[in-house]
Amino acid sequence: MSLVTWDTSYSVNVKSCDEEHQKLFALINDLHTAMKSGKGRTILGDIVRELEKYTRTHFLAEEALLQRAQYPKLNEHRAQHGEFVARVQQFRNDVEIGVGGDSVAVLTFLRDWLAKHIKQTDKMYSTHLNAHGVN
Ligand code: FEO
Repeated sequence: MSLVTWDTSYSVNVKSCDEEHQKLFALINDLHTAMKSGKGRTILGDIVRELEKYTRTHFLAEEALLQRAQYPKLNEHRAQHGEFVARVQQFRNDVEIGVGGDSVAVLTFLRDWLAKHIKQTDKMYSTHLNAHGVN
């Protein structure tokens, strides 16, 4: 069973962002599946590195869209991204060196954080971006 499933309640009405959010959910699910099936540290490390890399890719792309549209809450938004990247980075470190206790619990926390960020913070930019021709 998937840890998180994207549906239209997560849509921010910007195609590229919706696609990137779906990819992030897919990576979280891949990591969850790998952990539950007892995959080794090397495989988990590969997936968590991909999650970290793609998180950065998405955040930079999203921030570029917000900057171009002169989104007034960009700084607060960027600060939240920084907080999440730091947490993913810590998680990646823990997975790589094989510490960190309950990895599934940490991954669930990351899933919850991201889901809340999309529904509460990302969705706030939809109207602004749409009004600037970004759909
Ligand atoms: Fe889609 Fe602000 O992250």
